[in-house]
This record gives sequence, C-alpha cells and structure tokens, in this order.
Amino acid sequence: MASPIRRIGVLTGGGDCPGLNAVIRAVVKTVVNEYDWEVLGIEDGFEGLIQPGKVRPLTLADVRGILPRGGTILGTTNRANPFHYEVEVDGELKLFDVSDDVVRHAQVLGIDALVVIGGDGSLCIAHELMQKGLKVVGVPKTIDSDLQGTVITFGFDTAVNTAMDALDKLRTTAESHHRAIILEVMGRDAGWIALKAGIASGADVILIPEIPYDLDVVANKIARRNRSGSKFSIVVVAEGAKPVGGEAVYQAEREVGGVRRLGGIGEALAMQLRERCQVEVRVTVLGHLQRGGSPTAFDRLLASRFGTMAVHLVAEGKLGYMVALQDECIVAVPIAEAVAQQKFVPLESDILLTAFGLDICLGNSRKEIEKMQAGRVT
Ligand code: F6P
Repeated sequence: MASPIRRIGVLTGGGDCPGLNAVIRAVVKTVVNEYDWEVLGIEDGFEGLIQPGKVRPLTLADVRGILPRGGTILGTTNRANPFHYEVEVDGELKLFDVSDDVVRHAQVLGIDALVVIGGDGSLCIAHELMQKGLKVVGVPKTIDSDLQGTVITFGFDTAVNTAMDALDKLRTTAESHHRAIILEVMGRDAGWIALKAGIASGADVILIPEIPYDLDVVANKIARRNRSGSKFSIVVVAEGAKPVGGEAVYQAEREVGGVRRLGGIGEALAMQLRERCQVEVRVTVLGHLQRGGSPTAFDRLLASRFGTMAVHLVAEGKLGYMVALQDECIVAVPIAEAVAQQKFVPLESDILLTAFGLDICLGNSRKEIEKMQAGRVT
C-alpha cells in the first residue's frame, strides 16, 4: 500500500504564462478543503530544490486574490535544469548534474509528492526525477500549446486573445496608411498562436513553421489585394516560421537552458517584401506581452480544473501522470507520453481548410501544402 501523503510541494517551471496562479490557488484550496495535508511552495522552479531558503508553506492566505493575476507568485526560471545545472567556476560556466541533491532535498523537506506546473522542459525534468525516486504529478502549461496528450494547455487562450487584440489594433493603422503590417508572434516551433489569432482577426497572410513559405506566394497575395483595391495587408508570422529550403531566424544572444531563442523572422520577411512589393511594410514583435496579463475566463477555468485534479491524482497515487484536457474532461496521461514529442499543427487540420475557405494565404499554394501533407511522415 502506498504511504500516506502528509505534505506536497508545488513549483512553476519554465516561462511564465497566464493561469499559473490559478493552478497554485486550486492546489492549495483543494488540499485545505479536501485533504489534511500541508503544501510547500518551491520558488523559482527547480532552483528552489537546488538552492537553500527557497521553500515556504502555502496557506489559504497566500493564495487569496491571485486568481486573476498573471505571472506566478512562486517565481520561475528556465535556467535551472538539475541534470545540466550551470555553475560559475573560476569565471567559467560549467554544467553539473545535481539531480540527486534535488531528490534528497525534497526528502529532507518531507515532500511526499511534487506538483510540477510546466511545459515540456519542466515536465521532462519531472519525468527524469521520477526515475530517481521523486514522486511527481504534472500540470501542462505553455502559451505555445505544443504538448501532446492534452487538447490545449492553459495560457494559450490568453495569448491568442492578446495577439488577436494586437492584430485588430494594427489593422486600423494598416488600413489608414495603406501598409502591409507584419505581426511576429511566439509559439516556438509550433504555429498554433499565429494560426488561431490570425484567423480570429481576419489576417490576410499567416505563416507557420509547419508550412515553409514561398516568398513569391506571399508577395503575390499582397499585390493582388492592392490591385483589387484593398491597399493594406495584415501578415501574422510565427517566430519559428521559415522559407522553403531556408532556416528559422534566431536571436544572436547565448542560448538559455540549452535552447536557442527564436526571433527576427518578422523583420527578415519585411526586408524581402519591401524589395518585391510596391507597399510600405512595418513590423511589430508582440513578444512577452503574450505571456502577461490576466488570464481569460477559459484559462482561469482550465487552470483551476487542472490544479484541483492534480491534487486528486496525488491522493489516488497516480504519480508520473499529467493532468490533461480530452473530450471536455480532465484526465490523467503519463508524463512520458506528453513529452515524447511536440504537438504541431497537423496539415490535415480543418483549421487549414477554414483558412483556405477564407482566402487566407498560408505562405504556399494549396497544391504545395497538399503535397507536404502527403509527404509528411506521421
Ligand atoms: O515557450 C514559451 C515561449 O514564450 C515561447 O513562445 C518563446 O519562444 C519562448 O518562451 C521565449 O522565452 P524567453 O522568455 O526565455 O525569451
């Protein structure tokens, strides 16, 4: 029989996103209302189990009023992978495996199970720590919505609404000045934010990483609009988008946590379009605005359902699982399954059919996209 739970830990890892506080609140409230356990809040992701003095008890008073707040009251980082932990030695950064220390630290703190709220990076770490004896339950978060096993992650809906709002605002300037305006949005290697915000705001061109774009097709679409009297165009480009046969654009700075930072495709595309189209082109990079602000009703509800169910999974002894949304229900899926591969926009998605129906340019001809679909290894 599994040993009884007395104390659980909760941490938020990786990039912040709207809804993290709603999960923390749901975890604490469910524990207090339904179980006789204690909750320890771990600060700054796994860093809180590596460095001393970064753990504090969480009570109802600590989570009062945080439901509508963006960010995370626990802090987070995407630089604290215990398996590759950066330490400065003699002025040089070196990587160390401190995962055994993390497991020991959790034991010393009396943590019987750890709720890890994170994206694929943090959940991969959680899965590896599980192999070392730490009992974990995962809660999927990311604005990118690129995790397998769940229809959607919390944070995504707010990010899409933020991007849609930005596009609605950019449209008025594009229209008034007869310009093409490009909005670069986040999403890493998945095009979910670009695609959904683009369709929701009536964009003319949407470029996503899953469909390498042909510059001629994009330029022709803008030229066609000009000829037909619509002398402005709205282009949404996902940060991971790339031209046919080309590469994604990365920022020059040093990589964070082993991951290169995407960014700059908007400006690169603008330069190319300026050469080809008789139209003024401007670029807006939406950046971290997508990760900020108050969560939408959808995200507050999903985050609350995830937080409560994560606690019930701990109680049921379903460790090594992640809460997920499937068919309108919250279910448990093995963390290993969720992190096995990223979830990209499927080329056979009906959302692409919607885009075709609305005459939105997806960066390549429909024939080419169908060829890509046929050639894609699934
Ligand atoms: O994964 C969330 C995300 O916002 C991505 O969309 C983006 O590429 C990345 O994080 C940005 O990370 P950082 O905050 O380290 O710049």
